[in-house]
Amino acid sequence: MSDANTLDFVPMAEADLEWIAAQDRLLYPYPWTAGNFADALQAGYSCWSVFEGQEQIGYAVLMMVLDEAHILNISVMKPHQGRGLGRRLLEHLAEVARSRGGRQLFLEVRPSNLPALALYDKAGFRQIGRRKGYYPAEGGREDALVMQLHL
Ligand SMILES: CC(C)(COP(=O)(O)OP(=O)(O)OC[C@H]1O[C@@H](n2cnc3c(N)ncnc32)[C@H](O)[C@@H]1OP(=O)(O)O)[C@@H](O)C(=O)NCCC(=O)NCCS
Repeated sequence: MSDANTLDFVPMAEADLEWIAAQDRLLYPYPWTAGNFADALQAGYSCWSVFEGQEQIGYAVLMMVLDEAHILNISVMKPHQGRGLGRRLLEHLAEVARSRGGRQLFLEVRPSNLPALALYDKAGFRQIGRRKGYYPAEGGREDALVMQLHL
């Protein structure tokens, strides 16, 4: 697979939510529903679809609270993972957050999600906390690592 070319970051459209939720089911053991994405749009969160040419290769949801930005979802479709697109999506979210007065960027991640941890680590996030049993998991619950990046 070649390196990423130009990416277009387009505000997520209501009409795309069923399709995006179907992608989420391919990427996460406990995916968001189309209703969860609709709620995020309704709440005024910053919701993005990412295109490379005509093809949607990712999506993300960012919530701003005063000068804090929270990444609620960041996803790259499986066939396009490992091409540097997650990093570029993360950079886009950081830029959006900065442009809206964000000083810090936060997210939660499963300790078992090694690709995501690698991405965040390389982007300069540091772990600032751990929420016990935050996520549902097979046979019980899984902690969340809380990570922070100064913008
Ligand atoms: C996490 C995710 C967004 C990463 O996106 P990606 O496009 O595959 O990541 P990138 O190619 O931009 O990689 C960024 C860095 O992380 C590293 N990395 C990514 N996947 C990795 C893996 N499986 N193992 C080790 N390192 C990895 C890369 O080496 C890269 O570092 P480099 O630029 O120094 O080489 C993507 O895997 C994904 O959508 N996963 C499913 C959904 C998910 O779990 N989202 C995060 C929820 S918290």
